[in-house]
Amino acid sequence: MTSINDQYFDQYAASNEMWERSRKAIVGGITHDGRHIKPFPPYMAKADGGYKWSIEGHKLIDFCVGHGSLIFGHNDPDLTAAMVNQVAKGTHFSAGHEAEIRWAEAVNRIVPSAELTRFTGSGTESTLLAMRIARGATGKDGILKFEGHFHGWQDYALKGEKPPFEKGTVNGVPNETLTTVSVLPANELAMLEERLVQGDIAAVIMEPSGGSWTTMPLAADFLQSVRDLCDKYDAILIFDEVITGFRWAPGGAQERFGVTPDITTMAKIVAGGMPGGAVSGKADIMSVVAFSDDPAKQAKKVPQMGTYNANPLAAAAGTKAVEKCADPAVQQYCDDIAVKIRSGMNEILVRHDAPGFVWGESSVFHIAFGARPTNMTAADLAKPEGVSPEFLKKSGGTPLGMKTEIGMLLEGVHVFHSGGLTCLRHTDEDVANTLQGFETVVKRMKDEGDFAGK
Ligand SMILES: Cc1ncc(COP(=O)(O)O)c(C=O)c1O
Repeated sequence: MTSINDQYFDQYAASNEMWERSRKAIVGGITHDGRHIKPFPPYMAKADGGYKWSIEGHKLIDFCVGHGSLIFGHNDPDLTAAMVNQVAKGTHFSAGHEAEIRWAEAVNRIVPSAELTRFTGSGTESTLLAMRIARGATGKDGILKFEGHFHGWQDYALKGEKPPFEKGTVNGVPNETLTTVSVLPANELAMLEERLVQGDIAAVIMEPSGGSWTTMPLAADFLQSVRDLCDKYDAILIFDEVITGFRWAPGGAQERFGVTPDITTMAKIVAGGMPGGAVSGKADIMSVVAFSDDPAKQAKKVPQMGTYNANPLAAAAGTKAVEKCADPAVQQYCDDIAVKIRSGMNEILVRHDAPGFVWGESSVFHIAFGARPTNMTAADLAKPEGVSPEFLKKSGGTPLGMKTEIGMLLEGVHVFHSGGLTCLRHTDEDVANTLQGFETVVKRMKDEGDFAGK
């Protein structure tokens, strides 16, 4: 019987050739560290709806959906029409335009914390701007973040993002920069209060889903407790809703959980899958970015530039996406598909007595192999118990995690970091095919001895 790896070399031979060519032109062969996978990454030729086709012609159910940005699937007719219409009119005016105002109005209408908005070029730029606004508005330098929470790749965001979380350095980032960032484990309120009481924290930034879109779930009421502590110690609360925005609910995780931050960072869905992002928040805080005729205020102005901020193409796609997301049936549909995947995969793992589990909330799922949570059943799992946050965070990048991804590619499914995000174009038939493929992969991994001793 051919192994998963050998079959991958055989069926994805053109991708392997592309990979060899890529490494001679693109450093490391990939354009996003998150796309690192062994033995080599798959290459795609086209996409439509909930599917992608590899360059070999394999049709794949796509659970990456533009790194989560395409909640309506690939080539949504409404978004495409809005973009085509805009392309004909021009894609950069080096000036204001109505589409950017309509875009901001839509965001402010739908996101609870959004009174005023500013656009950026990406999620990374959004978290950078949000931190700068918080620092400018409070006059304090400290940023507090949580272990494993991902806020893009800017200098202040990467400390404590990957295990070992206590490692205080990031290659290429000056230590002087990193000393302004404090990292704490999530769900530890006493530690958080002990740090906030010192009075130097401008903002607490967090993924309101828990680190890496529920990879490391938060304890019940943790969000509200963080909100209360930020109020008590005069720190700004930033929710990084780059993934959860417009996905957890029309108004994002803050709507789903009923906890409103001071500032919200967005990208992905907010820009309709185009490069772009947004920072929204309370008017008095956001106003530090505005020019002022008051010399005292102007002296404290926080700068922001960016050639592609609110470019007409992103504005056209983004406005349409945000408007369409106002219908909660969108998120409900995607959530329902994800529940079927999470519970179906857990049922398979239990039935085959495999040391793995699948968890998540809203419209995402994560797959881990090599351990079993103490609360595992053949059903949906929101918060795995008895496994460490480090184990959960690392699950996608391990050899077993990568092998799962390769195995699923052979079954016609492209998962994202051993998990995925659903979109409006996924169907019950896709769920059935995904589960059938997953069962095959579990059986093959078992046969290949991957679970021995686990
Ligand atoms: C929660 C979160 N914040 C920030 C970012 C960075 O966004 P971008 O890749 O657009 O820079 C991401 C990207 O996945 C993210 O998931």
